[in-house]
Amino acid sequence: MEQEARLPEPAPGTRDRARTARGFAEARAQAEGWPMPPPAHRRLEHIVSAWKGHEEFAVKLVRFLKPDVVVELGVDYGYSAFAFALPNIGTVYGIDWFQGDDCAGHRNTCAQVRAQMVTLGLGNLEIIHADFSTAARSWQRKIDILHIDGDHLYESVKRDFELWARFVGEDGVILMHDTISFPDDVGRFYGELRLPKFNFTHSHGLGVVCRNPDLLAEVVSL
Ligand SMILES: C[S@@+](CC[C@H](N)C(=O)[O-])C[C@H]1O[C@@H](n2cnc3c(N)ncnc32)[C@H](O)[C@@H]1O
Repeated sequence: MEQEARLPEPAPGTRDRARTARGFAEARAQAEGWPMPPPAHRRLEHIVSAWKGHEEFAVKLVRFLKPDVVVELGVDYGYSAFAFALPNIGTVYGIDWFQGDDCAGHRNTCAQVRAQMVTLGLGNLEIIHADFSTAARSWQRKIDILHIDGDHLYESVKRDFELWARFVGEDGVILMHDTISFPDDVGRFYGELRLPKFNFTHSHGLGVVCRNPDLLAEVVSL
């Protein structure tokens, strides 16, 4: 017989009905094993991005791998960087020159990103205001999760991968966005990689690459 979840009664006589309702919903989610919805001030849906369908995967990946270091190449308005930082595990380094590019459009979103980091309470996200090649020259840390999402031309993706993938260990994960929406560029480079990999085809495509095939299988079934 299925065990009935024990739910607390809302506190009698409380005036803060919204708070009580939320507490009740959270207790119910916990009792029944549902994922907890983030509180309103930590949600990302208002942020402009083509990355929206991958937030849940990013959060699960970070909770699973417990990375010390996540590096993102290409922050723009910050959506994916925020998604990696939300679980508050390790440090996320978001690298961007904040001048945009021919694929994303030309804009400086740096001030907006920094303001959102405060609103979202993300103390574990560090912004590196630089171009990817310059930043790679002085980079020294091992990377556990690398997300490549700069400009999407074939030569650029190849350069970003070659500059940064060498910092990713055997049990690290490399993500590449836009494998589907840029089939002749990101998609082509992803297709050429002779490494264990899996391509999520939704939300413009997210390639997942991992040198350890067993880890890849675990990660893509999260
Ligand atoms: C597709 S957007 C990133 C989208 C973002 N990850 C998201 O979640 O929506 C690409 C970003 O890469 C940056 N970028 C492109 N080429 C760059 C380079 N060589 N060095 C630094 N930043 C670069 C652009 O300024 C732009 O903000």
